[in-house]
This record gives sequence, structure tokens and C-alpha cells, in this order.
Amino acid sequence: MSFKKDFVWGVATASYQIEGAWDKDGKGLNIWDVFCHEPGHITENHNGDIACDHYNRYKEDVQLMKELGIKAYRFSISWSRIFPNGTGQINEKGVKFYSDLIDELLANGIEPYITLFHWDYPYQLHKKGGWLNDDSVEWFSNYAAKVVELFSDRAVNYITFNEPQCFIGLAYFNGAHAPGLKVGYKDIFQMCHNVLKAHGAAVKAMRANAKQKIKIGFSPAVEANYPATETFKDIEATRRAIFNCAPLGWGIMWSIAWWCDPIVLGCYPKDGLEMYKEYLPEITSEDMELISQPIDFFGMNVYNGKEIAAGDSDNPEFVKRKPGSPKTAIQWSVTPKCLQWGPRFMAERYKLPIIITENGMSAHDTVSIDGKVHDPNRIDFLNRYLLELEKAVDAGVDVLGYFLWSFMDNFEWAYGYTERFGIVYVDYDTQVRIPKDSAYWYKEWIESHNG
Ligand code: BGC
Repeated sequence: MSFKKDFVWGVATASYQIEGAWDKDGKGLNIWDVFCHEPGHITENHNGDIACDHYNRYKEDVQLMKELGIKAYRFSISWSRIFPNGTGQINEKGVKFYSDLIDELLANGIEPYITLFHWDYPYQLHKKGGWLNDDSVEWFSNYAAKVVELFSDRAVNYITFNEPQCFIGLAYFNGAHAPGLKVGYKDIFQMCHNVLKAHGAAVKAMRANAKQKIKIGFSPAVEANYPATETFKDIEATRRAIFNCAPLGWGIMWSIAWWCDPIVLGCYPKDGLEMYKEYLPEITSEDMELISQPIDFFGMNVYNGKEIAAGDSDNPEFVKRKPGSPKTAIQWSVTPKCLQWGPRFMAERYKLPIIITENGMSAHDTVSIDGKVHDPNRIDFLNRYLLELEKAVDAGVDVLGYFLWSFMDNFEWAYGYTERFGIVYVDYDTQVRIPKDSAYWYKEWIESHNG
């Protein structure tokens, strides 16, 4: 069967990671601006002040995408560039930047996919309590409505949230990400609930304000476990390992069902409701109705997963990885099968078309003596992962697209610039971009898979 002719082959980035121009043209502060300016949070105290200077170089970047045969570009909007205070007064220059970017993409035959929120929360709203404040639902849906009102004459694909697990978990549970707080379970679950309500309210507001039919999804992080063998027992054990809620502790943040069942199935998973009950906010049927507005696709950010086998009483057991098993530079396991089984399990449970909204790897990329950047590990990674994705398609999963993370090297959050995920190398001193070997490999892959 293989990939459809109109399969969307894209690349992805996020505003704070590439734009720079942190205080230009009326942009308001966001929590990452503030967090990075406080010493001690980020490796070598790096920050996104300049990043890839994409704000000033977007035309050059779009040209490069075109040369590389890229069909679609997933980027995020910096909320405080459009609303410097998060709500209220709009910043026309910020609007112009995204409007020009969309025009530039379309003029070059590249389809925009807009993420509304990829972690750079307006600082002024953070000071009012952020996701803990019940008004945050309305703040976000008003912002979403405005984005769609401004851009939906030209851009039709939208993603509400990128990885809520990270912008709540890493940010408020273990404090590694902005705003760097550690709060208790009650606050965590309140924030989760508000984020889910904000998603639903945004979907409603976006549909009401769209200038044409738009497509909306969301992009959770999916740790896509896969079965050790294709026996019924191992597959069932893997299904449970993926969808069972984790007991109280760090694992709760990564419980896929906790984040996705409310949105797609309209209810929280029973096991989670039981385990977390003493910390949960009031959850009404109106809330669930709001959260579960129909959406058009299920976005998945997939980097790896664990191998699972049925153990005692058929309970899921993690299969220990062999010494020397492959890892990326950031020390994440290389597990290609996650890109087959992740989409299979998500499509089975949620019955929505799938878009892989992120997948890729960091490597120790350097400019070689010949002036090129040779990244055979990334080519091998992409090849293996995409062949597995093809198997999901062959198994009947409706996969609409794949967005490689990332178009170019960028600010890797708490790791600063020390991790390179791009298929385009960025020299941060000169801002020169050099497509890596993998960029040309991806170009050929797209050409040979787009009919
Ligand atoms: C995030 C990206 C990040 C990437 C690599 C995802 O969790 O959405 O912003 O750069 O993974 O860590």
C-alpha cells in the first residue's frame, strides 16, 4: 500500500527555539525569556534571544525548505508576539511577521501547519497564575480565535497544544523547564484540567472564527512502546503499558490516556480517576463536553518507546535493552519500531487520522574539512523509522503526514545549543545554514515517495 500520493512530508520547529528577536517590534515577554535570563537554569546559560535569527531570516529559511523539496512546515506562534500581555492589545508588527511567513510559504508551495502553543507562555499571564487560573481557558481560546481570524483565509491546519506533558510536567512538576516550579499534585491536576478545557474552548472558538474549513489537531508526546513479539499476549501487554495510567509520581505526567481520552473519548480513564481521586479538581459533564470537541487528526510527537513483553500473569514487563544498544547524542534510545506501533495503537483507540508531528534525533554534528556536515547516523535513524511508519500504513493506519524534528539546529530548551536536532546545520556565530547530508537524503525520500 505504502504512503499515499498526497502524504504530507514536512519539517517542524517552534517559535522560542528559532525566532530570536525576543524584544523586537513590540513582542511581550514570555516565561522562557525570563527563565533563560536567570542564571543557572540552562546549560552554559544559553538563551533564545537570538537563536537562529529566523525572525529576520525567514525568507532565506523558506527558500532552503523549497530547495530541499519540503512540502509542509509546522511552526508555532509566539503568543506574546501577537498579544504582548497575553490578552488585550494586539501587536500589529507581530501579526505581520506571521502573516508574511505564511505568504512566503504559500508562494513557495509549502503548506503551513500552525501550532498555537509550543511552551512560550506570556509572562504577564504567568504572573496571574497561568494555567492554574481558571481564566486561562478563556485567555487561550481568545488567542486561538484571533489567530484563526487573522490567518485562516490562507492557513488551514492548526495544532492547539504541543506536548502538554512537557509544559506542565517539566515546567511545574520537576522544574527543569520554565517557569521552573515544583507544585503539588492538586495544582498539577488543576492545571491539566484547565489545559484540556483550554484546548476544547479553543477548538470551539477556532471553528466559529474560521474563514474557511480548517483542520484542527493536538500534539501530545507519545512514548510509543512496542511488543517484543507479535504474539497476542505481548501486543496486549504493550497496549496496557501504553494506556494504563501511572501510579502517583513522575509517571502521571506521561500517562497518554490521561491527556488524550478526555479530548477524543470525552472521559478521563477510570484507573486514573481512582488513583488520583484525592487530588482532582471538580470535573463536570459540561467540562467533558467542552474538552471533547470533535477534532480532525491526532498529532503525535514520537521519538522512542520501550520494548514490552507479557510477564507474570501476562502483566507488561519492560525488556531490558542490551548493553551498547543505539542511542542518540541526547542519550535517547533509538527504537524504530515505535513509529510503527505508536500510530497503530493510537489509531486503534482514538479512531482518528494520524499525523506524526515530530520525529528525529540529535547527533554530534560538525562541519567537516570538506565544508559539509555528514550525519550518517541521522540518515540511518530516519530510514529505519520511516520504514516502520510505512508498515503502520500497510497495516491500514490512516497516516496523513510526517514532520521531521527539526528543520534546523536550534535552542534545545534546558540543553541550550548543545544538542543538534536539525537536518540543517546552524553556525550560531555567523547564522550560516548548511544542509546536512540527511537533508539531501530526506529530499530524495520525499521525491521517491510523492509519486
Ligand atoms: C519538543 C521540541 C524539542 C524536541 C526534542 C519535543 O519534546 O516538542 O520542542 O526540541 O522534542 O527534545
